[in-house]
Amino acid sequence: MKNILVTGGAGFIGSAFVRHMVSSYPEYNIVCYDKLTYAGNIDNLLPVSDEENYRFERGDVADRKTVERVLNRYAIDTIVNFAAESHVDRSILDPDAFIHTDVVGAYILLDEGRKHGIGRFCQVSTDEVYGDIEEGLSKEDDRFLPNSPYAASKAGGELMVRAYHVTYGMDTVITRGSNTYGPYQYPEKLIPFFATEALDDRPLPVYGDGKQIRDWLYVDDHARGVDRLLHAGKSGEAYNLAGENQRHNIDVTRRILQVLGKPESLIRYVPDREGHDRRYAMTAEKARALGWRREYEFDRGLEATVNWYMDNEWWWRKIKTGEYLEFYQRQYAARLAASSL
Ligand code: NAD
Ligand code: DAU
Repeated sequence: MKNILVTGGAGFIGSAFVRHMVSSYPEYNIVCYDKLTYAGNIDNLLPVSDEENYRFERGDVADRKTVERVLNRYAIDTIVNFAAESHVDRSILDPDAFIHTDVVGAYILLDEGRKHGIGRFCQVSTDEVYGDIEEGLSKEDDRFLPNSPYAASKAGGELMVRAYHVTYGMDTVITRGSNTYGPYQYPEKLIPFFATEALDDRPLPVYGDGKQIRDWLYVDDHARGVDRLLHAGKSGEAYNLAGENQRHNIDVTRRILQVLGKPESLIRYVPDREGHDRRYAMTAEKARALGWRREYEFDRGLEATVNWYMDNEWWWRKIKTGEYLEFYQRQYAARLAASSL
């Protein structure tokens, strides 16, 4: 590995990975390739923007010509694909972009990567491909039962990676992360959305009964996990990156309010997300055997995260305008009108 293309590197987890790789591996050249959609944010890369082993190229992963040009220009030998439409609620409102980026984009990267003769292709995927799991822990060879258009698009991307490994012998590895949180996360996802809304004393719309369970993974642990699997993962294999921090949504919500010293009267129970998965939970055993371990306990990570949003209003305040407010209206106006305390 020498010249690594990180797609979606201006997003939440991708940028944590870029920051981590640029500082940990001065001998690698890290090229971030990102379309800068509503979720992509060049501010996330400010900490590395002057580093010699870092470059940025704007482009769409589904645009074959630009992908080909960038692979040639930087003599890319490794691809790590973070690029995705990533928000479940948006996939329910409008699935088109999810198919374009998460399925077609993954295919174009694989296909151009193969023609270009790259080495390793690492696909960043999600626990959502397993679907709802009532009890126990999802293992890597469990079947796929994705329930949202987002989850199905990620499963589609993964299946294409598998096909390129089996058919063309491409060197691939797949990572499946659990719910990730931390600094620089676009404030549409539960934790940054609720933290920034609570800071403004606005209502927190909890879907359904709030008893759904997610397994929370701190973003730096996720980035280190992808690094470990990129280097040590066996070709053709998939690995879970589990946070091993299962929490009910309502408990996460209460903890955010506690850290901020805000009242629980901000909580509103609103009509549920359509097709809402009740619980995700995975075993991390396979990645642990390769030396990865999550470091952050949830309470420590959550406090660090909420404090970051408190201290970095410059980052999120300007996001919460324009298109963001349109999405807020579509997603929450009717729900909040029908809410209960
Ligand atoms: P994000 O939405 O914050 O960032 C996505 C990035 O991809 C943005 O920078 C965006 O501009 C870019 N992008 C979108 N469409 C593109 C396109 N067509 N071409 C090029 N770039 C494009 O997402 P995230 O939360 O950082 O997630 C990153 C990856 O990790 C995704 O593949 C996601 O499925 C996966 N994942 C996320 C989580 C989580 O909890 N956030 C958990 C597990 C896995
Ligand atoms: O599990 C991994 C996945 O985690 C990733 O693959 C996705 O990219 C990422 O967005 C995330 O998906 P979720 O749907 O679990 O995350 P979200 O933050 O949207 O929601 C977390 C939980 O909180 C979920 O049960 C829905 C609930 N929720 C969310 C929002 C935004 C609410 O109750 N109210 C809300 O307003």
